[in-house]
Amino acid sequence: MKRVAILISGGGSNMLALVRDMAQPGHAAMPVLVLSNDPKAAGLERASALGVPVAAVDHRPFAKDREAFEAELLRPILASGADILCLAGFMRVLTPGFVHRFSGRMLNIHPSLLPKYPGLHTHQRALDAGDAEAGCTVHEVTPVLDDGPILGQARVPVEPGDTAETLAARVLREEHRLYPAVLRRYAAGDRTPVWLP
Ligand code: GRF
Repeated sequence: MKRVAILISGGGSNMLALVRDMAQPGHAAMPVLVLSNDPKAAGLERASALGVPVAAVDHRPFAKDREAFEAELLRPILASGADILCLAGFMRVLTPGFVHRFSGRMLNIHPSLLPKYPGLHTHQRALDAGDAEAGCTVHEVTPVLDDGPILGQARVPVEPGDTAETLAARVLREEHRLYPAVLRRYAAGDRTPVWLP
């Protein structure tokens, strides 16, 4: 059974989707930790309510010292015995050193059809570009932000009158389908990408 640690920064809706799917019979992974850089992240309570161990390491006292923050972040991850890390709405950039430590076993979900729109404000950028479709991507995390091998994508149409908020909500629903589907395969050692529809 693969042991999965999920890193969050906020509400954790993607984390919940992953935890709920891992509760299904036949899944090759189990959640062993939900970890946040914000001790007040609502996702921490939601994870606890589902019986998943939680931890928080506030990044603010570390200011710009990313290495010191990550040294603390590592403690609960190592204590949990996690084999796989899932970044799910985790809003801190990780250093190459941290990424390298989990090379080949750290996933992230990004709310765009990578390689388009790495970084922030992805939905507004898709609208500004007049794109007919948008979506989300699950990829392996590498030292280059939002750049690793793609493990799955889900596409949604951009509708007339869409705002960044309405498009984000449509994409988020697909994130909750895509990430569990990718983790299910990934935990079973299958790297075949998942393409929704
Ligand atoms: C959402 O914008 C989602 O697109 C991105 O992270 C943000 C928060 O997600 N992946 P969550 O509800 O905390 O999972």
